[in-house]
Parts: sequence; structure tokens; C-alpha cells
Amino acid sequence: MQAVPIAKNIWWVGAIDWTARHFHGQTYTTQRGTTYNAYLILDEKITLIDAVYGPFAGEMIQRIRSVVPAEKIDTIIANHIEPDHSGALPELLKFCPNARIYGSERAGQGLEHYYHQKLNFQAVKTGDLLSLGRRTLRLIEIPMIHWPDSMMSYLVEDQILFSNDTFGQHYATSERFDDEVPQETLMEETGKYYANILWPFGNLIAQRLAEIEKMAIPIRMIATSHGLSWRKDPWKVIEAYKRWSANETKPKIVVVYETMYGSTAKMAGKIVEGISDAGVPFKLYDIAQTDRTSVIYDMFDAKAYIVGSSNHDGGILPNMVSFMEFLKGLHPKNRIGCAFGSYGWSGVAIMKLEAILKEAGVAIVHPALSVVYAPDDAQLTACYELGKKVAALVQKG
Ligand code: FEO
Repeated sequence: MQAVPIAKNIWWVGAIDWTARHFHGQTYTTQRGTTYNAYLILDEKITLIDAVYGPFAGEMIQRIRSVVPAEKIDTIIANHIEPDHSGALPELLKFCPNARIYGSERAGQGLEHYYHQKLNFQAVKTGDLLSLGRRTLRLIEIPMIHWPDSMMSYLVEDQILFSNDTFGQHYATSERFDDEVPQETLMEETGKYYANILWPFGNLIAQRLAEIEKMAIPIRMIATSHGLSWRKDPWKVIEAYKRWSANETKPKIVVVYETMYGSTAKMAGKIVEGISDAGVPFKLYDIAQTDRTSVIYDMFDAKAYIVGSSNHDGGILPNMVSFMEFLKGLHPKNRIGCAFGSYGWSGVAIMKLEAILKEAGVAIVHPALSVVYAPDDAQLTACYELGKKVAALVQKG
């Protein structure tokens, strides 16, 4: 395993996780795998920026050794302590036990809790400058984007922003740079990452981006800790983040449901018929058959959500429960929606769906629509009208 040069005396020494299909437990489907990016800077100080996920420690160390003995590393920047970026540290520190680790104060506390070993740690804060010899690192804290410890590091002389999770993608490739892969796929994976992980932090992201812009630091490259780094046009992804953090929506409706014997599916079909006839773009998903990460990505720019479930054991069907809880955690703002579904003798599921939508912050624009066992013609017409009504509201903006 060889290191990949990204600039003079700076190498990518990360790992490619080609087979990862889940991330953050089972909450994120990584259909294209992922990478854990770490970077090695050769200067008077031999510096490693971030590490990789624990199971990939060997791959990272092998890549480091292709440039310099791992024993020579004396400086480690821990931009973020989540195990996908710090898990390999205990293995690496066997070779360079005296290396000094720099990170935010919360990073120091977190690393102790994770690894229960004495570390040569020094806390840094925004604005601190760390001389590596001929080069200087400027540290920028970005708390809660997306963990309290999160930080970026800016290499002043080379104008490289090591942005950690921010601007990254779960996208395993043999290529390392934005200009080497299809742009549509790159932006899709970047958007999926934002929607599924960073969506709740939109206000903070807008604030931090404004602060970084105010610093007026020239950025020649953004070296992320997942996926491809941005060397062709780093501002492309910064501008995308600015748009996304503004939480703007399009006139678009996403209908998501789960069904037992097809009644709720039939209702969903009539709802989207109404939406379609009104001429509003929409997506229809049976959540039991669909990858949640893609559905959330579709919901990210949609103005309205219509959610349905059959009643089951006095509640919502399990795939839909899981989906709704995830959606609630993302706190979508400025959205409208409503609930629907079928039941036999207790319509609790539909009421619960509506309640979760409200808890998520979605404004309810139509009373929950429920049918006993299977919809009749009049009820299917009501579904059609519901679709038309939500479509009209979405068109109004
Ligand atoms: Fe890629 Fe927040 O870890």
C-alpha cells in the first residue's frame, strides 16, 4: 500500500473501505463504500492529520511507511475523535508513543474516554498557530459540526484546508480528487452525507462558513476525511454547503409508507395520482423496500412529506417507526405534511405518525386520513384529493 502525493511533501495515507455498506451503526447506507482519509506532512515535524478507523490501522501504517518510518511521527492532529478518524491511534502510538496529539479540549476528553490510555495531548483553540518547521497549521474549531470536538486545520503555506467530515462523501474510489470522478455522483454523495448527517446543524454550519470566509484564507484545496478531496474547485462544495445550510426547499413532495396487505400502498398510489395530476414533482417510497439514506436525501429539498403506515399491534409498522424516528432527529424545518394509513380495529398508527411529524417540526396541513381494512372508492377519491391539496399548497410556496 503506497501513500499518494497530494502536494509537495504531503501525502494521503488513508484507507479505502470498499465493502462498507453501513455507517453510524445501521443508520447510513454507504452504497458506494467509503474512505477514511489521513494525511502525512513531512517537515521539521513529521505530522499526521487524522487517523483512520481501527480495523484499517494496518493499511494506514503501511502507507505511512512507504514515505517515512511510522516511528518518526512526532505530531498528530486529531480534528475529530469519532472512531472512524481516531480508531487507529492506539495501534499507531505503539510505534510513536511520544507523538504529541493536538485537538480541541473536548477532543482530549473524548480520546481519554475512548481509549483509556495516557496520551501526550495538547488542547488547541481557534486561531492557534502550530509551526511544523517551514509550514504552519492554523487550527479552526467547528464545535457541533458535527460533534463537540470537531475541528479543521488549515495549512497556511500550501493553502490546504483539512476539513475532516465537512465537505466529505461516503464514496470509495481508487481516485483521490474531485476532478477524477463523475461530478454528478460526487455531488450526490456529498449531498447525501450532508442530508443524513449534517442537516440538523444547518444554522451552525452557515455561521461557521461565514466565520471562515471572514478569515479570508485562500483555499487551494480542501482535503476531506471521507471520499474525494476538492482541488479543482474547492469553492464549489463551499457554495453547495451554503445553499444547503439555508434549508431551502423545492416544490416537491415525498410520499413514504409501509404496508401489510396493500391497502396503505393503494392509498399512497391514489395520493401520488393527485399530486401528479396537479403537476408537482414527487417521489414515492415503500420504506420496507428502500434504502433510508436515499429517501432522506430526496426529502432534503422537498417541501412536503406525506407518510403512511398500516396499523400493527397498536402502533406503526417497524420499518416506518425506525424511519420516522430518524427523520425526527434531523429536525426538518419549514416543511408541511400529513399522515395516512389503514387499520382493522385501532387507528393508533396513523395518529402516531401525525404526532411524530409534529415533533419533527413539520406543519400538518391535512387531517390524518385513515381507512378500515381497505379503501373504498370514496376513500380513494379522498386520497386523490389529499394529494391535490398538498400539491396546491406546495405550489403556493
Ligand atoms: Fe467521519 Fe464524524 O466521523
